[in-house]
Amino acid sequence: AVGFSVPALSSTEETGTLLPSLLKPPEPFRVPLPVPAVLAPGRHPDHPGADYYEITDQVAHQEIIPGTRTEVWGPGGTFPGPTLVSYSGRPTVVRRINTLPVPTVNHLHGGHVPAASDGFPTDLVYPPGYHDMGDMPGMPGDPLAVTTTGHRDYEYPMDQRAATLWYHDHRMGFTGPAVWNGLAGFHIVRDREEAALPLPGGDRDVPLMIADRSFTQDGSLRYPAADGMMPGVTETYMNGVLGDVILVNGAPWPVMDVAAVRYRLRILNASNARRYRLSLGLPIVQIGSDGGLLDRPVTHTTLDVAPAERFDVVVDFSGLRAGQEVTLTNQLGTEGTANVMRFRVTGPAPDTSRIPERLADVPRIDRAEATVVRDFTFQKKTKVWGINGEEFDPTRAIARPRLGDWEIWRFVTDLHHPVHMHLAQFQVLSRNGKAPGPTDAGWKDTVDLRPAELAEVIVRFTGYRGRYVLHCHNLEHEDMAMMAMVEVV
Ligand code: C2O
Ligand code: CU
Repeated sequence: AVGFSVPALSSTEETGTLLPSLLKPPEPFRVPLPVPAVLAPGRHPDHPGADYYEITDQVAHQEIIPGTRTEVWGPGGTFPGPTLVSYSGRPTVVRRINTLPVPTVNHLHGGHVPAASDGFPTDLVYPPGYHDMGDMPGMPGDPLAVTTTGHRDYEYPMDQRAATLWYHDHRMGFTGPAVWNGLAGFHIVRDREEAALPLPGGDRDVPLMIADRSFTQDGSLRYPAADGMMPGVTETYMNGVLGDVILVNGAPWPVMDVAAVRYRLRILNASNARRYRLSLGLPIVQIGSDGGLLDRPVTHTTLDVAPAERFDVVVDFSGLRAGQEVTLTNQLGTEGTANVMRFRVTGPAPDTSRIPERLADVPRIDRAEATVVRDFTFQKKTKVWGINGEEFDPTRAIARPRLGDWEIWRFVTDLHHPVHMHLAQFQVLSRNGKAPGPTDAGWKDTVDLRPAELAEVIVRFTGYRGRYVLHCHNLEHEDMAMMAMVEVV
């Protein structure tokens, strides 16, 4: 036993603070659901055998609120960025070209990736014309940082199973505003095991990126630190920035036409800070988690989704008639934030899909496998957030796990924190000494840590040594130092 006690709930703070829009929100359920374009891979002589992509991060304008133009920082000029699809076992290389007015760092969330391509928070890609801290003030002095100018090639071996991954900016102290402005997209991994299943596919396999935002009068994105190099999130917003307009794939409260058949929906909460309790009035059958398919389906009536979590679900609309509508709601929201999107049934269609009783082989890892137990507290310090009382220092390791060893990591908190680990997927062993919760099934890279909770997860780092991070995925908490370096040795 470790001398470690669960702190009493010290506060009633929510997961963030609302930043109201200055414009009148648009009518819900009018804008058709956009689906991000899937990029076709190319080849590059430096990376033989790999699927190669070039994506330019650029300032672009997009009609998000009907009748207005919103400036976004779009990967490839759109928010969300394009969807990438990789195949397990076939390497993918993504060249990210930075033409934004700020440095970037790209991270593949959920990726099993060498440290050099993981997007360590100080491995900056400067836009052309900038190369050091003198030009771009406010950067951390990390002697191990590998910075580049203009672009960086991120190399992904794709030695991992099928899963819904996503990419997003990860710069130290600036992830919140960068993602808010648009630097995020899906990266889906497919494999044979999954392709052999009769799950809904094609245009009935739809990624849904849910993200709240706020807007100024003219339709610009509103963030507490609109201009700066530095996050500058005031104390008011260090709990997390909550928007009052719910976007799905970049559209406000969209509507999607569906046939009366089964659909696979890959739900991602890409919000900076907002948690959702989703409900549809239809069963939500979960088939996959952050790390890919579950061993068997899990049926939910409501689904709690913390920032960065993915839930791969199947919804069966076959009981509905043409013209019927169902609304995806958020039971944790009020007024506008209580709605997410709507599905409108067009009519019957053939459907040969089904949900197998047995989806994949997901062995339950026994706690007895673990040789090390580590404790991490997630709490506020005076002006910032911390892990084990320390704010993020990119040069100091909080843990040095050995490659290939199973370890139990115990996370404890007094507030809500979606705790995320790079490189590895873990399994949740317990919450407050009891069984894992309904959203903990399968392999996870993010656990929804709730007030006065101690969650135990079992994890093993494999494949690559080097510097990674452990952090809270409330992006304002992350920017305000709730992050730690983990060195896999
Ligand atoms: Cu989704 Cu460390 O990030
Ligand atoms: Cu947090």
